Amino acid sequence: MSEVDLTVHLTPDDIVRGLRSDARTGLTATPKSLPPKWFYDARGSELFERITRLPEYYPTRAEREILAARSAEIASVTDATTLVELGSGSSEKTRLLLNALRHHGSLREIVTLDVSESALRDAAAVLGAAYDPVSVHGVVGDFTQHLALLPGSPGRLVAFLGGTIGNLVPAERAKFLSGVRDVLDEGEWLLLGTDLVKDPSVLVQAYDDAAGVTAEFNRNVLHVLNRELSADFDPAAFDHVALWDHEEEWIEMRLRATRPMEVHVPVVGLTVSFVEGEEMRTEVSAKFRDERVTAELADAGFDLKHWWTDGESRFGVSLSQAVPR
Ligand code: SAH
Ligand code: TRP
Repeated sequence: MSEVDLTVHLTPDDIVRGLRSDARTGLTATPKSLPPKWFYDARGSELFERITRLPEYYPTRAEREILAARSAEIASVTDATTLVELGSGSSEKTRLLLNALRHHGSLREIVTLDVSESALRDAAAVLGAAYDPVSVHGVVGDFTQHLALLPGSPGRLVAFLGGTIGNLVPAERAKFLSGVRDVLDEGEWLLLGTDLVKDPSVLVQAYDDAAGVTAEFNRNVLHVLNRELSADFDPAAFDHVALWDHEEEWIEMRLRATRPMEVHVPVVGLTVSFVEGEEMRTEVSAKFRDERVTAELADAGFDLKHWWTDGESRFGVSLSQAVPR
């Protein structure tokens, strides 16, 4: 078993403080909205793992296919010693990369960052056992806040998989990519997974599965508010909505009130009214075209060197190098 350490930049106190502030802002806005990172408590992370195995949710399988085909090439191009993974979740697909880097002989260190402490602890333990003697640093943190605090020595390859970049709106994305560029030295690497624009019916089904797992995942944010802020949402009274916005080219996830409701959120002193049919936005998942990926990376100081898709061109993985800005 390798040395595995865990650094917590988001304590339970920080989480309640952040949730309070986001609830105050989002539940008093018109239309109401909540930021997506609050889906991911222990139950939310488990529900997400179930989503990745649903027949309708193709992104995980498509990205895995690309990583299986290209990891050896990624290892030899980057010669990375440190794999830094952001929003790592279970790090399941990441093992393809880690195996290739180990086989290539360069791998020394693994850094994984996630807001979900439960998912991170489990994944770090699995990686520590599998990649002995490589050292494993788990970081409980927010990739929109804590990038500058990341451990890891030069020779870095940052991986941001799962299409999670699409959960940021364009301004947040630009800030995030520049933030990643800021912590890298010239010549270091970013491997980015992006889901691609395609037939809207395929996209909508991926976010509205027949078994209702995604609906339960979406409603999980209400369970989190009930537990952490003593709110009294009735999650069963909200319908899951997934729709394609073809102007923005993103899937938008919403929760729709099925009846008029008054919800109390005592910890922030709020009483929130919903009219019947009112929709609250809980997430966007942007879908990309290759030109856009190249352009957004270039704006942040990355030169896209490789672009790979799966056999059905559903998902894209890009490998980019940090260049002078
Ligand atoms: N990389 C995994 C998981 C993707 S799901 C995969 O490809 O399957 C998105 C992951 O990002 C979850 O594990 C979630 O807990 C994490 N996450 C979401 N918002 C985050 C934030 N602001 N900071 C850090 N991690 C975040
Ligand atoms: N990063 C994932 C994505 O955008 C997260 C995700 C998958 C998700 N399914 C979801 C988030 C359903 C909210 C609801 O694909």
